[in-house]
Amino acid sequence: MKAEGRRIVMLTAYDASFAWQLEAAGVDVALVGDSLGMVVQGHRSTLPVTLDHMVYHTSIVARGLNATLLVADLPFMADRDVAHMLEAGARLVGEGGAAMVKVEGAAPHILDGIQALTVRAIPVCAHLGLTPQSVHKFGGFRIQGREEEAAERLVKEALAVEAAGAAIVVLEGIPTALGERITQAISIPTIGIGAGPHCDGQVLVLHDMLGITPGKRPKFSKDFLAGRDSVAAAIAAYVQDVRSGAFPAPEHGFN
Ligand code: KIV
Repeated sequence: MKAEGRRIVMLTAYDASFAWQLEAAGVDVALVGDSLGMVVQGHRSTLPVTLDHMVYHTSIVARGLNATLLVADLPFMADRDVAHMLEAGARLVGEGGAAMVKVEGAAPHILDGIQALTVRAIPVCAHLGLTPQSVHKFGGFRIQGREEEAAERLVKEALAVEAAGAAIVVLEGIPTALGERITQAISIPTIGIGAGPHCDGQVLVLHDMLGITPGKRPKFSKDFLAGRDSVAAAIAAYVQDVRSGAFPAPEHGFN
């Protein structure tokens, strides 16, 4: 799709009912994100989510999907070394039914883990930028890569995860210009969330784009249910807007 210039639509899902809705709307990639800790379990971060939680939610999403690619997150500390990454990947694929796993960051052991999973036929989606499992290191959910040095580091990380074998990379919470720069620098697809319109695809958290997450909606998200009469119509509008390039608009990005 990247080679053909067709935009990739990714959306999170946490259960079979919503997985059916994603599948019916033609979403390309369903992500069982550890954001479930915040939008389903009510925590303030993704850190309390366990591997058992992820395997359970992945397995119930898998029941609702047929053609849609299913990606599942390695939760906090399931990536602490290569052995744990392999064990988590095996469970998410074997028990959960995922076809790909997502890992945050590009630390040396993460690059080794991406390579180890990939050679064992578990494709990997990398995740760079505002990686939520590093919330305490960042001192909050803060936009990353604003300074040139940090931007340069993120470009290098994107090249490194690609070289390690990652199949896709999610770019979260970075300036629009950096999203474009990374998308041009690597050959694997970039999927943006708060990374501007130039990424090869977009992802949102389901509850954010349905406008049901309590509190202030993140700047990079949009309530697609507003003015529509069903969840199906909201997800269909999201798919259409990502494919056409109407979403994200400039006001959803960061300078
Ligand atoms: O957990 C999640 O939902 C994610 C997306 C925000 C990309 O990682």
